[in-house]
Amino acid sequence: MADSRENEKTLFSPYKMGKFDLSHRMVLAPMTRCRALNGIPGPALATYYEQRSTPGGFLITEGTLVSPTAPGFPHVPGIYNEEQVEAWKMVVDAAHAKGAIIFCQLWHVGRASHQVYQPGGAAPISSTNKPISSRWRILMPDGSYAPYPKPRALEKYEIQEVVEDYRRAALNAIRAGFDGIEIHGAHGYLIDQFLKDGINDRTDEYGGPIENRCRFLMQVVQAVTAAIGAERVGVRISPAIDHLDATDSDPHGLGLAVIERLNKLQVKLGEKLTYLHVTQPRYTAYGQTESGRPGTEDEEAQLLRTWRSSYQGTLISSGGFTRELGMQAVAQGDADLVSYGRLFISNPDLVLRFKVNAPLNKYIRKTFYTQDPVVGYTDYPFLKNGSESHKPLSRL
Ligand SMILES: Cc1cc2nc3c(=O)[nH]c(=O)nc-3n(C[C@H](O)[C@H](O)[C@H](O)COP(=O)(O)O)c2cc1C
Repeated sequence: MADSRENEKTLFSPYKMGKFDLSHRMVLAPMTRCRALNGIPGPALATYYEQRSTPGGFLITEGTLVSPTAPGFPHVPGIYNEEQVEAWKMVVDAAHAKGAIIFCQLWHVGRASHQVYQPGGAAPISSTNKPISSRWRILMPDGSYAPYPKPRALEKYEIQEVVEDYRRAALNAIRAGFDGIEIHGAHGYLIDQFLKDGINDRTDEYGGPIENRCRFLMQVVQAVTAAIGAERVGVRISPAIDHLDATDSDPHGLGLAVIERLNKLQVKLGEKLTYLHVTQPRYTAYGQTESGRPGTEDEEAQLLRTWRSSYQGTLISSGGFTRELGMQAVAQGDADLVSYGRLFISNPDLVLRFKVNAPLNKYIRKTFYTQDPVVGYTDYPFLKNGSESHKPLSRL
């Protein structure tokens, strides 16, 4: 009799993600790294993504700006003008040359910005006029941190312009050679500022009841799928994460509301989105749990399982995964794919390391958002002949 474990799915089992044939289930999570000087991806980005590419592996780029009002970090790449589109080609080609599939994450930070990042020094835009609380600080271009300023709530007609920015950015991404795009609807940025009732205080059809708060996200999803096809579109949400004050009175219900709408859209289009990407609340970004009062492991697992069983398509789970937790999630069917963030920063060959169960380099938090094209970016060591090339240089 065959060993039942032979049929058990692991991180290294192949997976068919819509039209993409993946050779394993470890995804590079989208991560802002601030190395695209003046918004233009350069050779450093090509090296970084190429290092993390594997044949049949899936990469999601760092958050990439859909318009000049979108930034809230220094030196984040954009995809709204020709120079940026041209520059991305080199990065995409480098990933493709290694056989990887690469999606561009489309990003607008909304109120998580500062006048210094805005055209003409204007106030950042949002669903609301309320600023992010003093609990959080924004990283300024000179490396210092400052309070978030008061944003300006978008007028209704302006919301349509932002939707159009996403549509154009998606088309640009395809022109740059990307296999698809991910809509960043997570972590307290613009789309999440509409989704969450702890932020969205609008009284028009974009605020109030859950269907209104989902409206902006769904208009973006519809515009982008109409432009480039659902099979090239992923959506990221984090209903249970309160990064940048993105709280909701019913994260479970909010997640389900988004999923219901995505399911319906898929039926209407007769085509599935590429995936839904959900960040787990246990993710900690600044050495603290972002969801102030984290649920127990069981509560979190339950939340994810409900969303998993409700979404009719590929689910990527992210946040605090180790090799063991990733293996478990895939084996138990809690996720089809698992995305890795910080471990992928410090281990460019993370897939190989997990495969052979090798020790890992530690990441250096202080170089997450610095500008050096090499240090803390492309200089993390690879395994050599199945063992470490040298002792990890990095420290937590
Ligand atoms: C340096 C850094 C930058 C990040 N930037 C983004 C981003 O641009 N877009 C996004 O959706 N998530 C971003 N994240 C969140 C990651 O995609 C991921 O969900 C998170 O790190 C949890 O996964 P991990 O525990 O494997 O690191 C970032 C995380 C880190 C550490």
